[in-house]
Amino acid sequence: MRRFGFVMASMLYATVATANPAGEHLAYTVGCVNCHHQTDKSIINAPPLMVVRTYSLPEFRKLMKTGVTRAGRDMASQGSVMGFVAKEQFAHFTDAEVASLYDYFTKDWTAQRGIEEEKKIPIYFKHPAATTKSRPK
Ligand code: HEC
Repeated sequence: MRRFGFVMASMLYATVATANPAGEHLAYTVGCVNCHHQTDKSIINAPPLMVVRTYSLPEFRKLMKTGVTRAGRDMASQGSVMGFVAKEQFAHFTDAEVASLYDYFTKDWTAQRGIEEEKKIPIYFKHPAATTKSRPK
C-alpha cells in the first residue's frame, strides 16, 4: 500500500510541469480533470476538456458562474451535475481564477493529456477488462 502511494505520488508529480501552475492547480483541485477524464463514463459522462477551446473567455466565464453553455443550454435546469458544480462551486471563482483556468485549458491542456488521465480509469474503477480475476464478488 505504501508502495502504491509512492507510485501514485510520482504519477501526480509528473503532471505538474506547466507554463501555468495556478491554472493547473485549480483544474486538478476543483475536479475538472477528475470528472472529465478520471471517472468512468458510466458514472459521469463529461466531454474531453479540449471543449474549453471552443469557448471565448466571456462564454467560459458565464459557464463557470451560471452553468449555461455557449450554446445557451442551462445545464442545472436539465439536472446536469456540471450545472450544479458551476452554480454552487465555480460561481465562487474570482475573475482572475476563471482567467487562469481558461488560459490553462486553451494553451497548456492537450488531447494527449486527457488520454493520459483516462488511462487511470481502469485502475480506479476496476473495469472487468482490467481486473476480472481479482474483482470482489
Ligand atoms: C462533478 C463533475 C464535474 C466537474 C467537477 C466539472 N465538470 Fe464540466 N462537465 C461535467 C459533465 C457531466 C458535463 C456534461 C454535462 C451536459 O452536457 O449536460 C460537463 C460539461 C462541461 C463543458 C461542456 C459544456 C458544453 O458546451 O456542452 C465544459 C466546457 C466543462 N464541463 C468544463 C469544466 C471545467 C473547466 C471544470 C472545472 C472548473 C469542470 N467542467 C468541472 C462534469 C463536471
